[in-house]
Amino acid sequence: MGYNIAIDGPAGAGKSTIAKRVAKELSFIYVDTGAMYRAMAIYLLDQKVDAEDSSAIEKTCTGADISIRYENGEQVVLLNGENVNSRLRDEAVGEMASVTSANAAVRAHLLDLQRNLAAQYDVVMDGRDIGTTILPDADIKIYLTASVDVRAERRFKELQEKGLSPVFEEIRADIIERDERDMNREVSPLRQAPDAVLVDSSDLTIEEVTKVITDMVRR
Ligand code: DC
Repeated sequence: MGYNIAIDGPAGAGKSTIAKRVAKELSFIYVDTGAMYRAMAIYLLDQKVDAEDSSAIEKTCTGADISIRYENGEQVVLLNGENVNSRLRDEAVGEMASVTSANAAVRAHLLDLQRNLAAQYDVVMDGRDIGTTILPDADIKIYLTASVDVRAERRFKELQEKGLSPVFEEIRADIIERDERDMNREVSPLRQAPDAVLVDSSDLTIEEVTKVITDMVRR
């Protein structure tokens, strides 16, 4: 069994930024489980499955062979052998993933992949149900959050830096909608595990949050 750090939290809390930093400092592998749900969403979109048709999702999802490879420390997601990294952050993919990740068959299909990586390597794994469902015995569990306004502001700036012209209110509404879906779904809802340490990053820098976590490992 590897040394496992689980980081869960809502969209835009900074999980991937922090998890990457922590992994780099500790020479661990960063496992982005959201990317796996996004790869599954790409598959379902390509198969023209309706996001609302749960029985079609159930039947179709088993055809997605999703695996992970690491190239120069970066996670590369392979969908039926094809590198899909360039499509993972598409808006339509994020939307589809947000809906289809609530499907029990989709979650069951991705569970072994996540557990096997954690068994094989020292990992920092981020997601929504890592501390509660995937790795209940993780060595360290963090629930990383931030206020809706701070998360919306961060996303707004990120899009602006990409040369886009985002509308703040739309981003804020989208974050609220995703929180609602992630926290209230029946299967593996986003929850703070009882033994997870709550870190609110609203008023903390990336360095400060990273230090909170690495200090826990080194103690
Ligand atoms: O973190 P992200 O935005 O890349 O995640 C994409 C979607 O997948 C998001 O709507 C939540 C879902 N997800 C999940 O249900 N469980 C995880 N462990 C990771 C992501």
